[in-house]
Amino acid sequence: MRNVLVSSDLNEMYHRCTDAVVSVGTQSISTSGRFTLVLSGGSTPRKLYELLAAGPYRERLSWNRVHLFWGDERCVPPDHAESNFRLVQEELINPLGLPQGNLHRIKGELESPEKAAAEYEEELTDFFRLQAGDVPTFDLILLGMGPDGHTASLFPSDSALQEHKRLVTATRSIHGGVRRVTLTLPTINHARQVFFLISGPDKAETVREVLEGSRQGAPLPAQLIEPGDGEMRFYLDQAAASRLSGYKPN
Ligand code: 6PG
Repeated sequence: MRNVLVSSDLNEMYHRCTDAVVSVGTQSISTSGRFTLVLSGGSTPRKLYELLAAGPYRERLSWNRVHLFWGDERCVPPDHAESNFRLVQEELINPLGLPQGNLHRIKGELESPEKAAAEYEEELTDFFRLQAGDVPTFDLILLGMGPDGHTASLFPSDSALQEHKRLVTATRSIHGGVRRVTLTLPTINHARQVFFLISGPDKAETVREVLEGSRQGAPLPAQLIEPGDGEMRFYLDQAAASRLSGYKPN
């Protein structure tokens, strides 16, 4: 099931998405005693993390039952300016004083991206007590999207898009820069819920392509996100939704 929620402005988009994250978390904790939340990198989610760590959202979640994971990471140390972990540490982990045992970061500083990917796959296997061939089911995965349609660190025409056995893989951005580690499509598509958080006019055409475009040619990575039994929501501001046919704030 796919829902597109268009907010009239950025502030409303962030509050709606933050409220939804807390609602899913509360439900997950009540059902299973824990909330397994996968976080996104990039600049868009910073405000969401800031809101989660402040009232009234902070008080609504039993944070000691929240386990944080990352959808992707750059191959840099955790205190590096480009680290997705560092972003969350600044906005969420430090303000809330989250216990180390609840933090499951991708160790981008390891000697190779392949080693970091393998180590994270072991971490997921241990945490979810997976048997061979099992795929973890996260309660919620937060994703962003680049103007090129990449999500997590799955980029157009990336060989990582063909990875259907591994849970985690090493990859690289088509825009250069440091190498990366990312959850693979099977892992993302096995989530109970996936929320995209996308804002800005520079992504409007790609949003239209992902939500309304023809499927001719190679699909964009964001078009390959289809949680089979799960729910998928797109939290958009008006600018990002501005190319959708008949869009209006809802
Ligand atoms: C990353 C993210 C990436 C991000 C998009 C959008 O590590 O950079 O996982 O997929 O969500 O690039 O980034 P912005 O939010 O900065 O536009």
